Amino acid sequence: MAIDRMAVIGGGQMGSGIAQVAAQAGVEVIIADASPDLAKKAVDRLAATLAKLVEKGKLSAADRDAVAGRIKAARSLEDCAGADLAIEAIVENEGVKKDLFKKLDGLLAPHALLASNTSSISITALAASTRRAEKFIGMHFMNPPPVMQLIEIIRGLQTSDETYATVMALAKRFGKTTVTSKDVPGFIVNRVLIPLINEACFALQEGLATPEDIDTGVKLGLNHPMGPLTLADFIGLDTCLYIAEVLHRELGDDKYRPAALLRQYVAAGWYGRKTGRGFYKYA
Ligand code: CAA
Ligand code: NAD
Repeated sequence: MAIDRMAVIGGGQMGSGIAQVAAQAGVEVIIADASPDLAKKAVDRLAATLAKLVEKGKLSAADRDAVAGRIKAARSLEDCAGADLAIEAIVENEGVKKDLFKKLDGLLAPHALLASNTSSISITALAASTRRAEKFIGMHFMNPPPVMQLIEIIRGLQTSDETYATVMALAKRFGKTTVTSKDVPGFIVNRVLIPLINEACFALQEGLATPEDIDTGVKLGLNHPMGPLTLADFIGLDTCLYIAEVLHRELGDDKYRPAALLRQYVAAGWYGRKTGRGFYKYA
C-alpha cells in the first residue's frame, strides 16, 4: 500500500522531526497536538528549521516551499481522518497512548495503518486498544529524526506481513536504515542506551566525578558524539525516566531500577533542554 498522507500526533521534538522527514520524502503531513495552538507552534518551528537549512545551503528555497506546503496543522484530531498512516509521538505513557489510539481507530479509514514512536512500551499492548491490531506497528525514529539514520521497526504479536512490508518500504523512501526488533521492552536501542544513561546518573549520584568529567570520559573515551548526561538532557529526563521505569517494571530485574537522582530531577521539573535545566543549564 502506498502512503500518500500521514498524520503525526504530538508535535514535540520527535513528532516535528518525523513530519519533516515525511514531507521531505513527498508525503502530505498533518500534525495534531493537545491543542490547535500547539499544533500550529510545531508547524511554525518546522518553518524556522527549514529556513535555517536554506541559510546553510542544504535546501533550496523552492524545495523549502514545497516541503512547507506539504505540512499542515490540525485544528482537532478529526482533521487527521484522511491519513493512510497515523504515527503517534506523544508522551511516553501507556494509558495516554491507548486513549489516543482508541480515538484514531474510530476516526481513520479501514485501510489506514497505526504506528507508535514509543521508546519502550509494548506494541502488542498498544495495538490491543484498537480493532486493527494487524495494521499496528512500532516505528521508532531516533532523535533528531531528520539527522539520525536509523528507524527501529517493532512488530507486535498481531502485526501483519503487509503492514510490516508497507512500513519497511516507507522507511526506505525516507532514506533510512532499519533494524527489526521483537516486541520486548526498550527494543534494541533503549535496552542498551537507557542502562548506560542510568549508570551515568548513579555515578553522578555517588560523586564519582563531575557531570562534565563523566560526559567527557564517555565522549572521548568511547568516541560517542555526546556524553550520557548531555544526551539525557537532549532526549528529555522525563522521557528517560519513563523508559527506565518500563524496563524495570516489565523486565522485572532490579538492575534496571532508575537512579534516585534521575527521579529527583524529574520531580523538580528539570527535564533537560526542553525546560532549560537538566544536568546542565540552557539559555
Ligand atoms: N534537518 C536536517 N538537517 C539538520 C536538522 C534538521 N532538522 N537539524 C540539524 N541538521 C543538520 C545540521 O545542518 C548539521 O549539518 P552539517 O554538519 O552538515 O552542518 C548536522 O545536522 C548536525 O547538526 P548541528 O551542527 O546542529 O549539531 P552537532 O554537530 O552538534 O550534532 C547531533 C548534533 C546530530 C544531535 C549529534 O550531537 C549527535 O549525533 N548526538 C547523539 C544523538 C543520539 O544519540 N540520538 C539518539 C538518541 S536515543 C533515541 O533517539 C531513542 C529514544 O527513544 C530515546
Ligand atoms: P515531547 O515532550 O517533546 O513532545 C510530546 C508532544 O506530545 C508535546 O507537543 C505534547 O503537547 C504532545 N501531547 C502530549 N499528550 C498528547 C495527547 N494526548 N494528544 C496529543 N498530543 C499530546 O516528547 P518527545 O521527545 O517528542 O517524545 C515523544 C515520543 O517519542 C515519546 O513516546 C518518546 O518516548 C518517543 N521518543 C523520544 C525520543 C527522544 O529522544 N526524545 C526518541 C525516540 C522516541
